[in-house]
Amino acid sequence: MGGTGTGIAPVSGFGATLRRDAWWVELLPVVIVLGGFGIYATLRAFEGKFYEWGSYLTPFYSPLIDPQHHWWPWSPAILILGGPLGFRTTCYYYRKAYYRAFFLDPPGCAVGEPGRKYRGESAFPFILQNVHRYFFYIAVVFLAFLWHDAVRAFFWDDGFHAGLGTVIMLANVVLLSLYTFSCHSLRHLAGGRLDCFSCATFGKPRYNAWRWVTRLNERHMLWAWTSLVSVGFTDFYIRMVSSGALHDVRLF
Ligand code: FES
Repeated sequence: MGGTGTGIAPVSGFGATLRRDAWWVELLPVVIVLGGFGIYATLRAFEGKFYEWGSYLTPFYSPLIDPQHHWWPWSPAILILGGPLGFRTTCYYYRKAYYRAFFLDPPGCAVGEPGRKYRGESAFPFILQNVHRYFFYIAVVFLAFLWHDAVRAFFWDDGFHAGLGTVIMLANVVLLSLYTFSCHSLRHLAGGRLDCFSCATFGKPRYNAWRWVTRLNERHMLWAWTSLVSVGFTDFYIRMVSSGALHDVRLF
């Protein structure tokens, strides 16, 4: 958009652009949903109660560590929130979304950014974003706990049955799995740094894995948002049921 050699005068300065569309509109849902989720999740993590009911356990408190406060006096969620938070914060898609919406750096494609010197993610603190691949491994461990919770939500003191909460927990863990296994780092793990699948060790399975992850990865943004909303909603539902504000609906 600089216009070099095109006869169009270059534009520069914060917010300057030749774009004529309402480019700023796409920032609003990010600010509202991500900002709202951040506030809600922080309040819930520190609340320290209404996190389980019967066989239900909210994802914000899973895995549940020291709920009886033998050695940890504060909310159990604080012990574990670094894992999912780190995974989302360093996610390649979310980085793009919150750099634009919250740091305005840049506010949009081909829109002038604040006059800071561009250093990419090659210097502190943003260089820390490169640990994303390790957060992926941690996220898989969390996912195992959440699958365990979703299955446990079928088993009650009075036998095998399911409530609306069971379905919500199940839908949530499916969406979280789609989000986790569509991760760019996993795609790189399966097919990165390879010029030739058929020449590589385990080339065929790696090629198949890479194809599957690529198909999921094409919708990574969709899984990022739907899983974010489902985590928040699952917690909200269980909180309502646990506090007595709502009655769980028994399905069978
Ligand atoms: S890139 Fe988004 S979760 Fe890995």
